[in-house]
Amino acid sequence: MNDKGFTLWFTGLSGAGKSTLAEALSARMAAIELAHEILDGDVVRTNLSKGLGFSKEDRDTNIRRIGYVANMLARNGVAAITAAISPYREVRREVRNYAIKDDAAFVEVFVYCPLEVVEERDTKGLYKKARAGIIKNFTGISDPYEEPEQAEVTVNTAEESIEESADKILAYLKGQGLL
Ligand code: ADX
Repeated sequence: MNDKGFTLWFTGLSGAGKSTLAEALSARMAAIELAHEILDGDVVRTNLSKGLGFSKEDRDTNIRRIGYVANMLARNGVAAITAAISPYREVRREVRNYAIKDDAAFVEVFVYCPLEVVEERDTKGLYKKARAGIIKNFTGISDPYEEPEQAEVTVNTAEESIEESADKILAYLKGQGLL
C-alpha cells in the first residue's frame, strides 16, 4: 500500500461510463484499503456546485471547484477520483496545474465512447431531449466536447467491458508507482 495521493480525472461525454468506472475503481481501491474519494459531477451539482448551470462559465466554475477539492485530497494522501464531463481543454489544463504546483500526480483518463453509442444508450433520456431542443447546450449535441490531446490513459467503453477499462487504468497507476 502507498499513501501517495493523486487525482484520477475522468473526462468524457454524458453516458460514456465515467461514474460507473469511478465506482469500479473505488471498489478496487477499497479492496486494497487505499484511501480514496469520488467527486462525481452529478453529485457535486447537488451540493458544492448547486445552482450552477451548463454555460461555459458555470461548467468552468464547476470544474475548478472539483479540481480544488480533488487537489486538497490528493496532497493529503488520498486518491481523488473525479467524474465530470469536463468538456473544455483549457480548464482541464488549469486543474492539472493545481496538482503540478503541489507535486501531486494527475492522471487524466479519457473515457471515450462514440456519440452514436451514448445516444443510443441514452440512460437518462437526456440525448433525446437535447435533440428535441428541450435541453439547450447539451454536450456533444449543442455544446462542444474537446477531446483530450494527451490523456495518460484512454479507455473505449463501446468496445471494452467496465472491468477491462478498470484493469487498464489500474495497470497504469501501478506502473506509475501510485498503487
Ligand atoms: S460539466 O460539463 O460541468 O463537467 P457535469 O459532469 O458536472 O458537467 O454534469 C453533467 C451531467 O449533468 C450529465 O451527465 C447530465 O446528467 C446532466 N446535464 C444536464 N444538462 C446538461 C447539459 N446541457 N450538458 C451536459 N450535461 C447535462
